[in-house]
Amino acid sequence: MMLLLRISGFISAFMAIIVLAPSLQSFPPAEAIRSSHFDPYLRFPGRISSPDRFSFRQASPFRNAAECATVAENSTICDPSLVHIAITLDEEYLRGSIAAVHSVLQHALCPQSIFFHFLVSDPGLQTLVLSAFPDLRFKIYYFDPDRVRRLISTSVRSALEQPLNYARNYLADILEPCVRRVIYLDSDLVLVDDIAKLWRTRLGSRTIGAPEYCHANFTKYFTSRFWSNPRLAGTFADRRPCYFNTGVMVMDLHQWRKAAFTRRIEKWMEIQKGGGLSGRIYELGSLPPFLLVFAGHVAPIEHRWNQHGLGGDNVKGSCRDLHPGPVSLLHWSGSGKPWARLDSNRPCPLDAIWAHYDLYGPTSTATATAAAAAAADSSSSSRPAWFLSNIWLSVQAHLM
Ligand SMILES: *[C@@H]1O[C@H](CO)[C@@H](O)[C@H](O)[C@H]1NC(C)=O
Ligand SMILES: *[C@@H]1O[C@H](CO)[C@@H](O)[C@H](O)[C@H]1NC(C)=O
Repeated sequence: MMLLLRISGFISAFMAIIVLAPSLQSFPPAEAIRSSHFDPYLRFPGRISSPDRFSFRQASPFRNAAECATVAENSTICDPSLVHIAITLDEEYLRGSIAAVHSVLQHALCPQSIFFHFLVSDPGLQTLVLSAFPDLRFKIYYFDPDRVRRLISTSVRSALEQPLNYARNYLADILEPCVRRVIYLDSDLVLVDDIAKLWRTRLGSRTIGAPEYCHANFTKYFTSRFWSNPRLAGTFADRRPCYFNTGVMVMDLHQWRKAAFTRRIEKWMEIQKGGGLSGRIYELGSLPPFLLVFAGHVAPIEHRWNQHGLGGDNVKGSCRDLHPGPVSLLHWSGSGKPWARLDSNRPCPLDAIWAHYDLYGPTSTATATAAAAAAADSSSSSRPAWFLSNIWLSVQAHLM
């Protein structure tokens, strides 16, 4: 038995090398020099992080189910059967990103058909990804913070000013041209459903798809200076804009490139920046430019794919509940992050679900148990206990 385990360990390590060989080879600086396409983004600085500051447990191995299309070990990033996901990795949200990837793999029927595009400002993080997911298909892209720094204005929460928050604006330029569609995911969420269902969403003639919230007060995302200037506010004249959250988006990169949406987003950021403190047209970070360009032109996706706001409001980070309806993805947008609340022993009830995917440190199982206990005790949620335990059970069933 031991021998068998050993041998299978060897085989999977060997396969990991084969699968990862292309991404290792394309890692700096070879491709950065060879391909002018990536130059602005793949200019690596000398800085390499010391990954030993973080330690992640290795996720359990994942395999495609029998009904999945086989993805050849030698297939490239351009293989049309792959599902593409883009997510940022930075030190502050690293634990969240790793948990998000873990949850995607756990709930996918065909996890080996998923390709991850990681956007980093610190190339040393590659080692960490490998330590948690030795068999993962992925590529790491360096996102140069200077690319957006000149465009970022201060916002209500300093975390919103991080340059990597703006990397989603540049996916169409950064990813290979053969990647025509990508799902962008924030780092503070977990999937509890198969992401392939979201991948197959029809966008029609739209460039991005996201759940829309037409009852939200759209006015409050922009300042009175914006609304009182007809040249600015007129941008919404011939559409019915609704709020949507940019943390989960299905993006048609082919259309995005054709219409040069990156440039349109940058233009709004320049207007915001040029206005100075008294002339700002919005208060939040990367969201408003997206609303300016896309609100009213979004392919609506079922709300189950972004149950957002679980981090609470932007000031206090208080506990929030799920919106009514089915749940495929839980998103801790807002200032409270589940890992921080779990560490400080003050978790919100739903944080127990996040803890299930946490791979950080050796004690994470204990954290999950403690979180579940705390959640069972908590009376702060208006949601009946059976509801939470139903989600919990479905999560556990998926994990079996
Ligand atoms: C991948 O390997 C298979 C068989 O091992 C071969 O037929 C195919 O041409 C290879 N594809 C590429 C892209 O190298
Ligand atoms: C929407 O928000 C604006 C600005 O915060 C406010 O003035 C307005 O009264 C709000 N509208 C509704 C219907 O709540």
